[in-house]
Amino acid sequence: MSTDRVLKAGVLGATGTVGQRFIVLLAQNPMFSIHALGASERSAGKAYVLATKWKMSEQLPEEVRNVIVHPCAPEHFGGCDVIFSGLDASVAGDIEKAFFEADFAVFSNAKNYRMHPDVPLCVPVVNTDHYAVVAGQRQARRLKRGFIVTNSNCSTSGLVVPLKALQDRFGALQRVMVTTMQAVSGAGYPGVASLDILDNVVPLIPGEELKMEEEVLKILGGVAADGAACTPLTDLRVSATCNRVPVIDGHTECVSVEFAGTPPSIEEIKQCLREYTCEVQDLGCFSAPKHVIYVAEDEDRPQPRLDRNAGNGMSVTVGRIRKCPVFHVKFTLLVHNTVLGAAGASILNAEYAAKKGYI
Ligand SMILES: NC(=O)c1ccc[n+]([C@@H]2O[C@H](COP(=O)([O-])OP(=O)(O)OC[C@H]3O[C@@H](n4cnc5c(N)ncnc54)[C@H](OP(=O)(O)O)[C@@H]3O)[C@@H](O)[C@H]2O)c1
Repeated sequence: MSTDRVLKAGVLGATGTVGQRFIVLLAQNPMFSIHALGASERSAGKAYVLATKWKMSEQLPEEVRNVIVHPCAPEHFGGCDVIFSGLDASVAGDIEKAFFEADFAVFSNAKNYRMHPDVPLCVPVVNTDHYAVVAGQRQARRLKRGFIVTNSNCSTSGLVVPLKALQDRFGALQRVMVTTMQAVSGAGYPGVASLDILDNVVPLIPGEELKMEEEVLKILGGVAADGAACTPLTDLRVSATCNRVPVIDGHTECVSVEFAGTPPSIEEIKQCLREYTCEVQDLGCFSAPKHVIYVAEDEDRPQPRLDRNAGNGMSVTVGRIRKCPVFHVKFTLLVHNTVLGAAGASILNAEYAAKKGYI
């Protein structure tokens, strides 16, 4: 398919936190037009403006206000070239399967298919090479044109960016420890009760630590020579501790890294992060950030309120890069959890897929 054509997009889970971010980003993106919206039976049949509790700081795009929300079934999404899913994981498995089996290109934010060996778990500024498994996925699942690509957990998406830059330049990493301070929007809407999060830090996000520890290995790993499966790293050990903090958007992560070989200097690390580039930039994808990584100059950055919109939310900001007395280096990073951490990554994945002829 020509990438000059505007792709018709369907959004599943359009009324949720990630769904609303899809609406904002798609409305600004010349490659897509919003063609169909889906959510639960609670929302189906209503105009979008009445079905959703709009929580974005951007205005609800005029062209979407009166679009009728449909149940999430393929027959309501005829004519869509691409399906973006911001579905709750409790329902995403069956619904997304119905869509890719109905020959739709599905880009999902849910966890259900992330760890399937023949499904790319793709942070588009990191591992577009994992699209190599799509042909095998179609063959194994008897799909003609349909396929599914997932993007990672929101915290993982920030972490893998500097790790990938370091791994590419300085060789294998041995151990990574990460402690997160995650925004409330990461829990969806209505999410965490205000009485639990105001004046507080909640030191548990159920399931999050295991997701980070597993997903990093898959994303930083490779693809088997026959293209049949992703091959996660086996030598890297990752330990994650995840906390919910009273921030609206933007996950902050404190990271310590140990290299397998001789560690580079702090200056070499800063230079490596500043110079990191990726394929979606080379291809000129609309949503690709100019700088994948911003190295913060001020010593008290990154901060969520100040840095979450770096690169329109598609860049990761890394600061406080210094020697670690236990591992080799430690730093603090910030990622916008609903942009690079969710909807923005899906959209850039779809732009890449279109440029490479998968759609
Ligand atoms: N928030 C983030 O930062 C983030 C980041 C990365 C990944 N994710 C993942 O993205 C997905 C969405 O997260 P979220 O934060 O946007 O959640 P959310 O705000 O709770 O939204 C969930 C969406 O799923 C829809 N839904 C629920 N049950 C359904 C059903 N039975 N049939 C069809 N649609 C149904 C909801 O529709 P109704 O409004 O009609 O109920 C709503 O549109 C989750 O899998 C999450 O783990 C979230």
